[in-house]
Amino acid sequence: MFKGVLFDLDGVLTDTAEYHYQAWQRLGKEIGITIDRAFNEELKGVSREDSLKLLLAHGGRTNAFDSEQFAELAQRKNEYYVEMIQQVGPKDVYPGILDLLKHLKKEEIKISLASASKNGPFLLEKMALMSYFDGIADPAEVAKGKPDPEIFQLAAEKVGLTAAECIGIEDAKAGIQAILASGALPIGVGRPADLGTDIVLVASTKELTIELLTSVWQTANK
Ligand code: G6P
Ligand code: MG
Repeated sequence: MFKGVLFDLDGVLTDTAEYHYQAWQRLGKEIGITIDRAFNEELKGVSREDSLKLLLAHGGRTNAFDSEQFAELAQRKNEYYVEMIQQVGPKDVYPGILDLLKHLKKEEIKISLASASKNGPFLLEKMALMSYFDGIADPAEVAKGKPDPEIFQLAAEKVGLTAAECIGIEDAKAGIQAILASGALPIGVGRPADLGTDIVLVASTKELTIELLTSVWQTANK
């Protein structure tokens, strides 16, 4: 049986992936770069700095800003984002997530956060989910962000496990690549058109029951 579940946050526990998109869109507009949802799939799961690099490359502006300006742009995006998440509360937790966390706790399966977001702990507090988490991987502690496996390996380590003993849950392409590379078993939340057909996907977090996780684990370990 799996001993831990490594959760991504934005787009898995709640809808903040949408706020990241809106904040990047707003910043992009200010510097003359237009983005759409298809391009945003490339940003999901990717760190703030790496996202900004992708945004600038998308607009053909890779070398348009010096390091000070780059830092200012990243900070500005974060300000827009932080402004939007002030209103997040327990009501915003995605369907099925609270039940899943409760069941995992009851079964003494470890729960750990593997989000690239520096705003992760703030959001767990806002959604009143902090007490369910046995560990949080601090993105500041990892050298390479998703798709590198480091954050998932660290999240497992934080709860005394190896990634291979865990299931990882993700809504982003980069995140699924990171889970696969870490040795954890991935479950994706999203559409095959965005996330591919190689791993188990659910269309909604409602489907993320402990029964589903168990059956995915058993099928993979047959
Ligand atoms: C998550 C989100 C990304 C975001 C990253 C960094 O991985 O999916 O969209 O860029 O976290 O978030 P932060 O809140 O630290 O800017
Ligand atoms: Mg995500």
